[in-house]
Amino acid sequence: MADKNATERLSTNAAGIARAAEILRDGGLVAVPTETVYGLAARADSDRAVAKIYAAKGRPSFNPLIVHVASVTQAKELADFSAEAESVAARMWPGALTLVLPVKSDAALASAITAGLPTLALRMPDHPAMRDLIEMTGCPLAAPSANRSNAISPTTADHVLETLDGRIDAVIDGGKCQKGLESSILAIRHDGRWEELRPGPVDLDALRRSVSDGEVVDAAMGAIEAPGQQIRHYSPGKPLRLNAAVPEEDEFMIGYGNISGDIALSDRGDLGEAAMRLYSTLHAAAKSDRPRIAVAPIPEQGIGKAINDRLRRAAA
Ligand code: TXA
Ligand code: MG
Repeated sequence: MADKNATERLSTNAAGIARAAEILRDGGLVAVPTETVYGLAARADSDRAVAKIYAAKGRPSFNPLIVHVASVTQAKELADFSAEAESVAARMWPGALTLVLPVKSDAALASAITAGLPTLALRMPDHPAMRDLIEMTGCPLAAPSANRSNAISPTTADHVLETLDGRIDAVIDGGKCQKGLESSILAIRHDGRWEELRPGPVDLDALRRSVSDGEVVDAAMGAIEAPGQQIRHYSPGKPLRLNAAVPEEDEFMIGYGNISGDIALSDRGDLGEAAMRLYSTLHAAAKSDRPRIAVAPIPEQGIGKAINDRLRRAAA
């Protein structure tokens, strides 16, 4: 059982993926790299396996999970795709976009996954380890970020083990995650309305313009249907001050662009690099001997919006 044995560290090679698939088929838990953050995977069709995700994370049971698929065909067995949803998936998958769509009544899914909602969150990740694993396991995988509830999301296997060692069966070590921030979450409603439930690597305004007329409603803060998006989230466990130009003496300073610090998110002012480094930097700040953290201003544009969203939650 996961709570008695040590967590196995697996490689992304064929033997590692085969071992991980075996654990998952048996109803176990495996942390898996994706291009966004590491996910904590269980087979999505098993109540018992999915219940273990909630137990290992200490996650409230009203918070629904994202189901990961290896193809659009597999996704269509689980949710109803409008023509517009289909063209969004064709454009953006595999990638860092999660689609929230009406769940099919006959979908073979553990009931905890949707937590009673009439919708399902779906994503086809762009990481060979995750896609190979879904194919080899032979069923879609439910996977939240692989951290204890409210802790910082993991972008390395070591981050995963910091909070979940001994609580999960295995972690596949695929090195650092390329994007470093959780996927953008887009709900496409029955009436065709688009709602941004979580900002992320994919710019939903630009996506909307390229697909159809209309706007994207910002539902990220306090939306009833994104219960995981509570304001306090992604916590480094100490006070964090935003938009700081100069650190106080007891602050660990996180720099950006011209503003230097103990660590810089990106000293050349590259937002993509800053996103990739955000969580590992917060992990380092959390571990430092200084009791408080300060962060330089991050431009509110492109993926900078998602970085600021996570920083505001970390500061709350
Ligand atoms: O990049 C990601 O999305 C990562 C990787 C592993 O795929 N996953 C991730 O999962 O960030 P998690 O559980 O940490 O965040 C998923 C968010 C939660 O805030 C949850 O409330 C929301 O998605 N969610 C899941 N199903 C939903 C639904 N049917 N309607 C609205 N929000 C939903
Ligand atoms: Mg999470």
